[in-house]
Amino acid sequence: MTTQRTRQPIERNLAMELVRVTEAAALSAARHMGFGDKELVDQAAVDAMRHTLDGISMDGVVVIGEGEKDEAPMLYIGERIGDGSDPKVDIAVDPIDGTTLLSKGMSGAIAAIALSGRDTMRVPSDIFYMDKIAVGPGAADAIDINASVAANLANIGEALGLRPEEITVSVLDRPRHEGLLSEIRGAGARVKLIPDGDIASVIQAALPDSGVQAAMGVGGSPEGVLAAAAVRCTGGAIQCKPWPRTPEEREEATARGVDVDHVYDTEELVGGEDVFFAATGASSGELLRGVHFFAGGATTQSLVMRSRSGTIRWVESIHNFRRLDKIRYES
Ligand code: FBP
Repeated sequence: MTTQRTRQPIERNLAMELVRVTEAAALSAARHMGFGDKELVDQAAVDAMRHTLDGISMDGVVVIGEGEKDEAPMLYIGERIGDGSDPKVDIAVDPIDGTTLLSKGMSGAIAAIALSGRDTMRVPSDIFYMDKIAVGPGAADAIDINASVAANLANIGEALGLRPEEITVSVLDRPRHEGLLSEIRGAGARVKLIPDGDIASVIQAALPDSGVQAAMGVGGSPEGVLAAAAVRCTGGAIQCKPWPRTPEEREEATARGVDVDHVYDTEELVGGEDVFFAATGASSGELLRGVHFFAGGATTQSLVMRSRSGTIRWVESIHNFRRLDKIRYES
């Protein structure tokens, strides 16, 4: 697949419209927090996201969604969204990244969405996992996923003017990362293990002054593309490389024409000049506060970004359920 660039700039800041979508998903899913049912939180978020997306004027195609058409009734890959008017866009959604976290009432679940011009998102969909390394703008030129962990950390430290013990690396807490952890610790850097949710950890690494300077390790491929959209907006960098789980998966992928040694950089994952990203906290984490309910309403916190301007907005919202219900019944 080739990456095409959109000819017409997208003048509207679609991210300001997308934040309503992630707010709706987080609000809806958060009602089921701690019920121990990850499908339930996901379904609630999907329904709310799909419904709210309908209100945006665009000609959108879902490129990252809930799966193929036969396995997902909504937000399936290839689904057309919007009223068909310009702009023509690719849509990537993760209605809840961290469904297990939210189902257990744990920190750090977010609703996330990204949009970019049509045919600008490249999704390595044949491979379940990718190895990832991500940093913020100050260290964007310092990473090379094919180099050793020690070399990457030394370069990141040099670019940011930090000693190894002043660098914090976020890593998913998984047995597959045993070797990676010893390498990071061996290089003298600090580690922040996260139970789930590597979109949020990449975003943290890609934001200046978040306290996390890098995210490393293997996570889901779709999450890599959504994270890349956010990284495009902050001006950081991400590199991803297919990570077949077994020799058989490697062989099968190679037979299907996937180059498992290919390194996808930020622009290859999400190209074009107009990238929009929004995320809302569902359960409170380091990046975003979760949904707080009060009598008759709730508060949310969201992150809204656009690549062309590079503006990063933190949006605090108060939702009044009584008035919202009135609008719903009247429309
Ligand atoms: P879900 O919300 O779909 O469960 O994804 C959570 C997540 O932690 C992602 O953020 C991450 O990319 C992926 O799962 C890692 O996969 P695994 O849990 O199989 O290691």
